Amino acid sequence: MLELRAITRTYTLGGERAGVFEVSLSVAAGTLAVLAGPSGSGKTTLLQVAGLLEPPDDGEVLLEGVLVSGLSEKARCALRLEKLGFVFQSFNLVPVLDALENTMLPLQLQGFTEAQARDRASEMLARVGLADRLAHRPGQLSGGQQQRVAIARALAGSPRLVLADEPTANLDHAHGGPLLELMAVLARELGTAFLVASHDPAVIGRADAVFRLEDGRRLDA
Ligand SMILES: Nc1ncnc2c1ncn2[C@@H]1O[C@H](COP(=O)(O)OP(=O)(O)OP(=O)(O)O)[C@@H](O)[C@H]1O
Ligand SMILES: [Mg+2]
Repeated sequence: MLELRAITRTYTLGGERAGVFEVSLSVAAGTLAVLAGPSGSGKTTLLQVAGLLEPPDDGEVLLEGVLVSGLSEKARCALRLEKLGFVFQSFNLVPVLDALENTMLPLQLQGFTEAQARDRASEMLARVGLADRLAHRPGQLSGGQQQRVAIARALAGSPRLVLADEPTANLDHAHGGPLLELMAVLARELGTAFLVASHDPAVIGRADAVFRLEDGRRLDA
């Protein structure tokens, strides 16, 4: 589903060169892979390249076997909307919208009618166990519930790949494991690929594959 080939993306600040260096990995459809490594090891940088948010300095990004790095910003933007879903550490929900409206938002951007968006969003919220919380705004939900809304929102448009940056970092330990379990089950059921950056042992323990980064390089390659 996702293949990264020798990705290099570096930042030079104050004479020091940091980022990721020649990282290769692949994530199969229906599986959840974790990108593990200490703070500053390059996890977010690599997710941004995989998510077509940043072009690599060198190397190739393939989605479903098609080379997509090097496309124009407009083409990358269209691919992001159509094929990718994102989940962030801080949930990134719109505070004035309820769970259903938050989940509908990207669907409406994708061109679904309001009725279609409502149906798909409610179905996805039910899958993440929030059928009874559709009218709750983020401030009226627990952290774990907010993150499940974010997962429903990321999956509502049927993406082929979901990228999640430390999705359990703002949850207490008891909620991190179950959230990962949910993502792994959804990956299998929907055939979606997940790439999750995390240093949470509860997350790493539930992955189908683990890629370890240190100082911007694959440790286990
Ligand atoms: N915009 C930027 N400008 C300069 N340096 C950057 C920039 N973004 C990242 N870096 C550097 O690249 C390296 C990798 O950062 P990155 O954010 O990918 O790490 P990370 O593994 O996600 O860390 P954390 O676990 O703390 O989120 C770090 O040394 C960081 O300082
Ligand atoms: Mg990071």
